[in-house]
Amino acid sequence: MNERANHSESPAAKETAAAAGTADGTVVTATKGAAPATESMDDAAFRDRFAAMLRNRRSHRDFLPDALPEDEVREFLELVMTSPSAFNMQARAVVRIQDPDVRAAVHAAARKQRQVLEAPLLLAFVAEPDGWEDTFDEVASQYLASGRWDDSFAAEKRDRIAGFQKQRRDLGRSREYALRDATIAASFAMLAAEARGWATSPMTGFDEEALKAAIGADDSARDVSVALLLAVGRPAGAPKDPGRLPLERRVYVDEYPL
Ligand SMILES: Cc1cc2nc3c(=O)[nH]c(=O)nc-3n(C[C@H](O)[C@H](O)[C@H](O)COP(=O)(O)O)c2cc1C
Repeated sequence: MNERANHSESPAAKETAAAAGTADGTVVTATKGAAPATESMDDAAFRDRFAAMLRNRRSHRDFLPDALPEDEVREFLELVMTSPSAFNMQARAVVRIQDPDVRAAVHAAARKQRQVLEAPLLLAFVAEPDGWEDTFDEVASQYLASGRWDDSFAAEKRDRIAGFQKQRRDLGRSREYALRDATIAASFAMLAAEARGWATSPMTGFDEEALKAAIGADDSARDVSVALLLAVGRPAGAPKDPGRLPLERRVYVDEYPL
């Protein structure tokens, strides 16, 4: 059964959901071919720790110089890439800046913000407005292999995405849409880093053209944008919470106030 036949869930997913329906929050084991086992999120202790992590996250500008273990960086990047994207086309990329000369050029492009030079890990989140044209075949082959799509549905999907993208391009909004995917990936990175005890500095204080030139993104066959720079490392300080406006000030019901 594929997505055209059943847009909700595959039989395997349903099987897993049924098996996972334990009220006590125990870990379940997935059946063969089903989605991987997952731990119930209905867990007060987890919720409290996750809430504390969100509340206590701060933007850091001071980092210890210690390198982050490479295996942890890889696992972290894998988690970053679990972030959702429009149509699952994954039209966003991360450039890890390692070469000292490239980093110096990025530093200059980013108004010489010190964390750009000093953090052990520096990432640029790149938005690819037409990136789906490059990723579609690979993504489709994964869907086909998993049985979620068949060939005719893949063809339909390609047409549908092409239609959406054309509309966005005609409205001059391709870049704006692509920036969303890349920014969501950066948000995942901030939280995945936090969960490891690492700190982050999200940045948009840069000259985008200079930054693109620094990482070779100006030469790209396709027009791309840099959504965000993210410095990551172990914290060297404890920035104070600048606070947030009260909920009533920033959350509305049904109507956005003029
Ligand atoms: C989109 C975005 C761009 C930002 N750009 C910069 C930046 O260029 N330099 C910087 O030091 N901080 C930057 N910040 C960090 C913000 O100043 C910070 O998130 C805000 O002051 C709230 O502090 P907190 O993150 O510690 O809660 C940026 C944050 C966001 C979300």
